[in-house]
Amino acid sequence: MGILRLAHVDVVVTDLDLATAYYTEVIGMLETERDADSVYLKCWDEPGHHSLRLVYGPRVGFDQMSFRVERESDLDELENAVQRYGFPVSRVSKGDRIGQGESITFQTPSGQVMELVHDIEFVGRSTARVNPSPVVEGLKGIAPPRMDHVLVTCEEVGEATKFYESVLGFRTTEQLLDGQGHQVATWMERSHSPHDLALVTGKNGGLHHFAYWLDDWDHVRRSADVLAYNGIQVDVGPTRHGITRGNTIYFFDPLGTRNEVFTGGYRPDPDFPTITWTEDNIGRAVFYYEGDLNTRFMTVHT
Ligand SMILES: [Fe+2]
Repeated sequence: MGILRLAHVDVVVTDLDLATAYYTEVIGMLETERDADSVYLKCWDEPGHHSLRLVYGPRVGFDQMSFRVERESDLDELENAVQRYGFPVSRVSKGDRIGQGESITFQTPSGQVMELVHDIEFVGRSTARVNPSPVVEGLKGIAPPRMDHVLVTCEEVGEATKFYESVLGFRTTEQLLDGQGHQVATWMERSHSPHDLALVTGKNGGLHHFAYWLDDWDHVRRSADVLAYNGIQVDVGPTRHGITRGNTIYFFDPLGTRNEVFTGGYRPDPDFPTITWTEDNIGRAVFYYEGDLNTRFMTVHT
């Protein structure tokens, strides 16, 4: 019961055609639908209607993060829990949003708009449901099988983490503490992966990056080839995170939103004891090989 996984990330772009070209040709997502102001995209192994919505707007930014809940009744329970915490909740009716049914939205203590939805339109994966081939022909670019996680920024990581844990049921897999023992960043999961959602100290409401899942390190290497071939600005990597133990590349879409490809890590059970990193090890915590953060690390959009 409760939150299953990340459903979709909605980002604001100032050039819908440029962004769509990048996310279909370089990332290799599939366009499932478009309307007057948005393009809806999915990865080839995702059954749902979309995992990324590009919304046209005058300034690049973060519109919302949407998570899927396991049961329809979870929406009522989580709506009550968020309201009890003191945050107003809006209901979005079936038919109001493309590719999904009724949902609830609210602003979180970390300043992002969060949506919870159960009813998602399933359009199907690119593989057969019976006797599927592991190989899918005709994919372009990096072609990640699915979206993985989102990392957002906020001023009070400790307070926000408490909300995500106690109200929404997230489990904290890792935390980065400053010298006074305060949480500077946290990594939380609902899907038995190292993280579905992570928070790092910064502006309230910011998006640091969203990440695509890759199946192995070889796919990370091939992604670096695709990025270099297409002249994409790589931020960091290929490298490894100390936190999550994942292999990674950070890079920017043509409008400046940070993307990540991610693989590896561990598989936490619900009783996974939280791992702690201390701030004097922040470099290795984030980029294990470099042992240092670059100057762009805190570039975010709100
Ligand atoms: Fe990440």
